[in-house]
Amino acid sequence: MFFKDSWSLHFLLKNTLFYVLGDDEIKNCDRKLFIILLFVHFFPIKCIVCLINKMTVETTTLNTGAKLPLFGLGTWQSKDEAELKVALRAALDAGYRLIDTAFLYQNESIIGEILEEYIQSGKIKREDLFITTKLSFTAHAPQDVAKAVDLQLKALRLDYIDLFLIHTPTPFKHQDGNFLPIIEDGVFVVDTTPHIETWRELEKLYHSGKLRALGVSNFSAKQLQALYDAAEVKPSNHQIELHIYWPQEELRALAKKLNITVTAYAPLGSPGRKAARPDGVWPEGDPLLEPIVKKLAEKYHKTPAQILLRHLTQEGISAIPKSTNPDRIVENISIFDFKLSTEDLEALRTQVTSRVRLFLADFAAHHPFFPHEDVDTSKAPRVVLKLH
Ligand code: A2P
Repeated sequence: MFFKDSWSLHFLLKNTLFYVLGDDEIKNCDRKLFIILLFVHFFPIKCIVCLINKMTVETTTLNTGAKLPLFGLGTWQSKDEAELKVALRAALDAGYRLIDTAFLYQNESIIGEILEEYIQSGKIKREDLFITTKLSFTAHAPQDVAKAVDLQLKALRLDYIDLFLIHTPTPFKHQDGNFLPIIEDGVFVVDTTPHIETWRELEKLYHSGKLRALGVSNFSAKQLQALYDAAEVKPSNHQIELHIYWPQEELRALAKKLNITVTAYAPLGSPGRKAARPDGVWPEGDPLLEPIVKKLAEKYHKTPAQILLRHLTQEGISAIPKSTNPDRIVENISIFDFKLSTEDLEALRTQVTSRVRLFLADFAAHHPFFPHEDVDTSKAPRVVLKLH
């Protein structure tokens, strides 16, 4: 409804009459209120917030020349159709333009429906969106890559993907006729296709225009450097676990040297991660509760989540917090109206002493390409990731 209630309508009409015809005293006294009311009626508060946000999401430039938003919506674990649709609409209305997904998240077709809804209705132009998705770890074999990408384009209802990443450096074999992993003795069955062979196929898709930029995720520094050296189309982005407890200095320095942008997953410490393992066992750590984060939240009149996100974007890192809650979706994007001082950025670096990798990737601990030298794979429990 255009008018929220009959009282407002009555008040508006009354004031219009006073304004047009009215006696001077009433006219002067009510003018300000009248203008405010008109404004609120025509632009509900949420729209005003959205308009501000839409203008201000900062970007960084990929080595292709394309602009990567420094902020977007993560969708790992967002699989409930109704919930994800509400979340996507809330995000797009609030000014999100970067949506991050993956074949393995099993939600590309839901995302595709909403993207089509917004593009076809003219609410958003395709070229203003930035869609990142990732190759399944079961589709690294050269004969599978183009097939997987075509399936993903179809699910997303797009004819190109803005950024396409190799999801993990650890490929696994898939079942006949689909890309679901084969499980034997409680673990995924290893595939040893070298990264560069998968990359060569991605390069072909880059040249065909289906993939506008290529990148990787969860690679070690050695793996990233080796791929970079062998690649004809250089990687544009590396998506890694990155938050105050796992600041990834080595990978960030290497990415900077190679002109590769960085995307932070789990920027809030992924409070909902425990649902993703059948045994629920994860390293402990909650950056949202860190004392310095809370202190800065009070100082800047922001929430702990906004402090965690802003400290990343201020350093040129793209952050993709996952949320399906419309209020938190708006909260998370509302970070481009303040800046942390240099001293406060430094305080986040020096006063946070915990170091904890929250995503061990131990579903791949038996893989010869397992990337994390700091993880003791001999102690890793044999579990398979819950693909949900
Ligand atoms: P929800 O989807 O209910 O909002 P990360 O991006 O680090 O992986 O974190 C995602 C998790 O953090 C989800 O469980 C999400 O829950 C929660 N979350 C997202 N935004 C906020 C916020 N602003 N404050 C607290 N928790 C949040």
